[in-house]
Amino acid sequence: MNNQEVALQLENVTKEFGGLTAVNDVSFTLSPGDRRGILGPNGAGKTTLFHLITGVIPITRGKVTLYDQDVTNWPTHKRVELGLARTFQITSLFSGLSVYENVLLAVQGLTKTKMVMFRPISKFKNIHDKVEELLSSSQFWEKRNTQIKNLSHGEQRQLEIVLALASEPKVLMLDEPTAGLATGESAEMANFLNSLSKDIAILIIEHDLDVIFDVAEHILVLHYGQLLTEGSVDEVRNNQQVQEIYLGQG
Ligand SMILES: Nc1ncnc2c1ncn2[C@@H]1O[C@H](COP(=O)(O)OP(=O)(O)OP(=O)(O)O)[C@@H](O)[C@H]1O
Ligand SMILES: [Mg+2]
Repeated sequence: MNNQEVALQLENVTKEFGGLTAVNDVSFTLSPGDRRGILGPNGAGKTTLFHLITGVIPITRGKVTLYDQDVTNWPTHKRVELGLARTFQITSLFSGLSVYENVLLAVQGLTKTKMVMFRPISKFKNIHDKVEELLSSSQFWEKRNTQIKNLSHGEQRQLEIVLALASEPKVLMLDEPTAGLATGESAEMANFLNSLSKDIAILIIEHDLDVIFDVAEHILVLHYGQLLTEGSVDEVRNNQQVQEIYLGQG
């Protein structure tokens, strides 16, 4: 894989809701394997930006490119086929089923679309092999027979990410993966994210600064829909404007 390859590119992305510009002229580029954080106060436009990247809501202006394809007006499922994956704020697990059964359902749900159409080699791969691979690589193999309701909250949030990995994403988008977790669980989530394959680029929105500084290499700061600043963890941590506008609120 060419290091110069672009995984995801946003050019002048803007979203207007009536008179409100929720996302204002945002541009950035993500290379394969990049770990990028998005910081910003409540209402800064972070989730809206994710919706524009995933195609959940239509864009007002600008361009979104995913692996050389202009996907600006593509429906979400076609973007997923190209390698985009996201988790949802609302839990998507079946609480009465086991860890194994939940992952199996996710893998089965993909066999007709992604695996068969876009990955002809995987067509013949045993679905259970895929489930085993996902569970082993994510340290959930030991807990495969545990019912979801008997997992800790933190483990449930991690397993949701494992489900998102079933589609073999190249760009994984996480909107506040530690929301509602206790401090120890948040630290475990950060470790879990750092243990994922380095081939996967991660775009993570987080209010927990310890987590975002641990997981991301480069951070974008959104403020009133605009990119206020961006830089390495240290640059952002030491940026005075960021301290006043965002960190000061914490
Ligand atoms: N569907 C919508 N219609 C109208 N306004 C919206 C819509 N979705 C979001 N907004 C507004 O856009 C702005 C950005 O909201 P967004 O949810 O993207 O912020 P956020 O940065 O994710 O905030 P938080 O940290 O609280 O999750 C807010 O002012 C919000 O009220
Ligand atoms: Mg949000």
